[in-house]
This record gives sequence, structure tokens and C-alpha cells, in this order.
Amino acid sequence: MSEITSIILAAGEGTRMRSKLPKVLHPLCGQPLIDYSLKVSRQVGARKIIVVTPPRDSNPVAQHLKEFAGVKVVAQKKPLGTADAVLSCQRSLNGTKGNVVILYGDNPLLRPETLQEFIKTVRQADATLGFVTTRFPNPAGYGRVVRDRSGEVVKIVEEKECTPQEKEVREINAGIYCVKADWLLPVLKKLKPHPITKEYYLTDIVEQALAEKQKLLGFFCENAEEFLGVNTPAHLLRANEIMCHRLVVHWMERGVAFLDGRHVYLEPTVVIGRGTVIHPQVYLQGKTKIGRNCVIECGSILRDIVLADGVHIKPYSILEESRIEKEAVIGPFARIRPGSVVGAQSRVGNFVELKKTRLGKGVKANHLTYLGDAVIGDETNVGCGTITCNYDGVKKHPTKIGRKVFIGSDVQFVAPVKIGDGAYIGAGSTITEDVPSQALAVARGRQVNKKNWVKKKLERK
Ligand code: UD1
Ligand code: CA
Repeated sequence: MSEITSIILAAGEGTRMRSKLPKVLHPLCGQPLIDYSLKVSRQVGARKIIVVTPPRDSNPVAQHLKEFAGVKVVAQKKPLGTADAVLSCQRSLNGTKGNVVILYGDNPLLRPETLQEFIKTVRQADATLGFVTTRFPNPAGYGRVVRDRSGEVVKIVEEKECTPQEKEVREINAGIYCVKADWLLPVLKKLKPHPITKEYYLTDIVEQALAEKQKLLGFFCENAEEFLGVNTPAHLLRANEIMCHRLVVHWMERGVAFLDGRHVYLEPTVVIGRGTVIHPQVYLQGKTKIGRNCVIECGSILRDIVLADGVHIKPYSILEESRIEKEAVIGPFARIRPGSVVGAQSRVGNFVELKKTRLGKGVKANHLTYLGDAVIGDETNVGCGTITCNYDGVKKHPTKIGRKVFIGSDVQFVAPVKIGDGAYIGAGSTITEDVPSQALAVARGRQVNKKNWVKKKLERK
């Protein structure tokens, strides 16, 4: 197979988004729109990917693209239209053979299978130009595909230039092209700007191909949803809904159960194991990887979290950049902050916050607790209201608690401090010194009961 070069257009002003953020950087399920076009280009085996952006100094798109190795960034000096944008790639295209696939950076729902099928069909037909069409019940804003009586394509007309009759056409240009490389540049140079917008339209190459009697292929796709162009915030909302739904279906087909598939938020980077049950209003973000047979209940947010098998996250728990081992139970209302590890079968209950803290196996911290910069051994019981005082105003200090320690309620550990295995800490203690293994530490004022103190006070009046 001859090579494929892909061009992604991302230099438009995106004014319809009414936002300072360039359109292609708006996130769709957590990732900038442009990332989807890059991904699909790679998936169909594009050797070379060129992205057209606004001039570098004025735009963060080029900045963002630095994260992608091997992507060539080309600046379009002024946004003079989609044809001009492709023409800006002139130098990068010199000597290019095979086919050039042109995509728009605001078309994130295109599936690789569809693009692959399209490219294959264009190549098999040996067409000079192929373009994708679909049908929308409401085609407003899209270029219409005009056909003659025999059904042959005549041209693409942008909405602004449509006659009332052409406006009625439901078949639209999806904005995906596959063009023979050696034909592309010469034809672009022949195009004229449109009188109303003064822009050069890439869509005009269709009429040019016909005028030159080049082989043209309109590739109709039934699944219109894939060709939604994101021009407005409303389109972005719709794209998010579609993408989220796709992800739900994807994981459902792999054995994940959703109690309410419409009210969960997933990102494409998340992985979920078979047998896991996801309740409504759950957010799974970033590099989150969930094992098998887990339960994640209502309102929980997990970002960059690894859950082993059989973990239960109870409602309204917030977890970030941490690892939860097998069969642990978290929440309700727990907060796991970055750098934490919760050992197998441990329990972290309501209003418990962990930060950079490692719990061993079978640890219990069930209520109202802050554990920061701490290491806690297997089977230790952390009483209600335990606090690690890890910050002295300048530095953070560690707390190290051994195995099978029993910590009574309302204990403060003034770090740095170490507690040996099996020690007991009396309720209400403020621990400032290390406690040896097996010892009982009590660090609080002794209770004094003054007999009849109240009665005497009243009598004195
Ligand atoms: C475009 C098509 C329309 C099609 C629709 C599909 C043209 C003239 N029209 O319309 O037929 O139905 O997409 O979604 O091609 N861009 C540049 N430089 C420019 C102008 C645009 O790089 O000077 C980029 C934009 O960043 C965007 C893409 O090209 O990613 C498409 O531009 P946009 O303005 O969104 O075109 P539409 O009006 O949606
Ligand atoms: Ca668009």
C-alpha cells in the first residue's frame, strides 16, 4: 500500500465558540478536540501528520502539539479559508506521494474503522479525490452536496452561498477528504476566493475535479453522528454526550454494569474490569484503571486511580493519583489525595482524608481522620478523630505507625514520630515522642473530679 499523509486543519478562528481558548483545545471527555483527529490519523497508519495552526507566537495550539512526537506543525498566516490552510502545507508536502487525507480538527467523533474504509474505497477506485458525505435531518451550517438528476455529485455549496433550493438538501459534506498527492497542490492554486466571505474553500476542489474530468468519489456514510463538527458550545455538549455514551457502551459490552448509563462521566483513557458495577453520577478520569468486580457508588470521582479487584467505593468519595488494593472499602465521603496506597481489605470510612499515606493490609480508619505523610502497618486500628500533625509551618514530617497498633479516639501524632508494633495509644493523647512496641502511651492531662464544686459555687452567691 502506498503511503498516507494526513493534514489536520486547526487554524480557524473558532469565533462561534465564544471563548478565548482556541476551539481545537476545548476538551471532549477530558482531551482536547485536536487529539482525536491526531489519534484517528495514527490509527489509519498516516506516516506523516501535518497540523495547520495559527501563527505560532499568537497561539497555544502549536504549544500543545509539542507533546506529540513526529507531528509537523505548519502555520497559516491568516485564516483565509480551508483551501488556503491546506495550501500552507505546500513546503511540507513537497515530494509527497500516495494519498493525502485531510481532516478538520473539530470533527472528533470520526471512528478509525470508518476512515479506514473510506481510504480503502478511494484507493480501490483509484479516485483522484474522495470525500465523505452523510445525511443530517437538520443540515444547518454544513456544506450541502448538490447532485444532478442522475444522482452524480455536481458540487459542494456552503450554506452562505446556498440557493433556497440547495438549502433544502440534507446530504452534507463531512469535511473528510482523500486526495492524490500530486493533484492536490496544483488544484488548490486554481481556486478563487468566494465573494461573500473572501475565503478560499477546500470544498471547491470537487467542482475542479469534475471540470478536469478527474475521478471523483462521494463516499456516503449512514452514521451521521460521526461527522458532527464542533462549531459552538452546544455542539461540544452534544459531542461530549455522544462520546460518553460510546464509552459506556464500549465497557458494557466488556462486562461492566452501569445503573444509569446517561449520568456517568468517562474519559477514553480509563480502563474498567469485567463485573464492575458503576452507579450514577460517577466520574472516572485520566489514567484510572479499575479492576474486576468493583463497585463504585453514586457521586464518586476517581482521577488517575488504580483499583485492584473487588474494591468498593461508597458514595461521594474523591480519589486522586493513588492505588487501592484488593477488596478495600472506601467511603462514604472519603478523600484520598495523591500519593496514597490503601492496602488489601483496609477500610477508610466517612470524613477520612489521606495524603501521601500508605495503609497496610486490613487497616481500619473508619471515621473523621486526617493521615498525611504517614505509613501505617497491617491491621492497625485508627480511632475516630486521629490526626497526624505533619506540618510545622515550614516542613512536612512523617509519621510511622507499626502493625496491629491500637489508636484510641482523638489522638494527635505530632510528627516526626514513630509508633512500634502492637502499641496502644490512649484516647485523647497528643503523641510527641516515639512509642516502643507493645507499650501503652497516654499523653493527656489527668482527670480531676472536684466533689460538689457546682453546689458550693452556687451557695457562694
Ligand atoms: C466546513 C466545510 C463544510 C463542511 C463542514 C463539516 C469548508 C469551506 N466548509 O465548514 O463544507 O460541511 O466543515 O464539518 O471547508 N480552518 C483553518 N483555516 C481557515 C479556516 C478553517 O485551519 O482559514 C480549520 C478550522 O480550524 C476547522 C476546520 O478548518 O478545524 C473547518 O473550519 P470551519 O470554519 O469549522 O468550517 P465549517 O464552517 O464547519
Ligand atoms: Ca466546523
